Amino acid sequence: MKISIVGPGSMGCLFAAKLSAAGTDVTLVDYKAERAGRLSKQGVVVETGEKRETHAISTSADPAVVSGSDGVIFMVKAYSTRAAATRLADCVRSDAWVMTMQNGMGNAEILMAIFGAEKVLAGTTSEGATLLAEGHIRHAGSGETSIGEFDGSDSERVRELSATLNNAGINTTTTGNVRGLLWKKLLINVGINPVTALLRIKNGEILDRQSAHDILCSAVLEAEGIARAEGVDPGNLNAVELVEGVARRTAKNISSMHQDVAAGRQTEIDYICGYVVAAARKHGLRAPVNNTLRNLVAALTE
Ligand code: PAF
Repeated sequence: MKISIVGPGSMGCLFAAKLSAAGTDVTLVDYKAERAGRLSKQGVVVETGEKRETHAISTSADPAVVSGSDGVIFMVKAYSTRAAATRLADCVRSDAWVMTMQNGMGNAEILMAIFGAEKVLAGTTSEGATLLAEGHIRHAGSGETSIGEFDGSDSERVRELSATLNNAGINTTTTGNVRGLLWKKLLINVGINPVTALLRIKNGEILDRQSAHDILCSAVLEAEGIARAEGVDPGNLNAVELVEGVARRTAKNISSMHQDVAAGRQTEIDYICGYVVAAARKHGLRAPVNNTLRNLVAALTE
């Protein structure tokens, strides 16, 4: 299977390195030509505990590189999905799939509008990775990855991709309930990302601080109520325990939003807490905890 991964951030580098180490033909796609050149030359460096490995990964800013791929995985920030997909729109093969494996909501809808609904897969991952420098990451904790057709159908291409990811050591299952899956990931991001970004703490520290943990609980329970108002079935779960479990497993990870705030970059808050607030409004409901978290994080980078 030949795969293109769009976005050389922490998660893009992690997936590219693991797939390439397992023998999959993988290309990283960037939009910055100079950075792509440097990454191709220096490779992707992955630190795991005391171990440090360099993986030679072909990286390109030429949209045409995706034309040879069986599938394209989008791993850019949610606010860049439309621009990245538009650049590649004419180059993705007619029989190829495209998959969002991003934080935040609304990415699949953008991919469907640009590539056509029948091409779109979606997935989530709770792997923890931190970008230490360009093309240099720390794999801070293994997590679970789940993928499926956006329309919920069963397909050979999803089973094949799942096998490829598992073969690369990325623990992957398939699902027929992608909407529930994306909301479940949203609950995790709602509970962990703003709190860690605002307090500048690692994921695990939320569990050690009573007040931080209180915020996590209020934000997650509020978002879960909105998921139910949306008619989403996030599965038979205790939402707070779900988020606590991820915080525990990725305890040493610096969340993506914390990394963004620390680097002075734009955050994905509008696609996480902001999405919950907008979804609540559609049903005549309010989501004051998520609204306040949205405003606090937005104020950090305004
Ligand atoms: O955004 C992140 O950092 C990740 O989605 C997660 C799972 C919260 C772990 O840090």
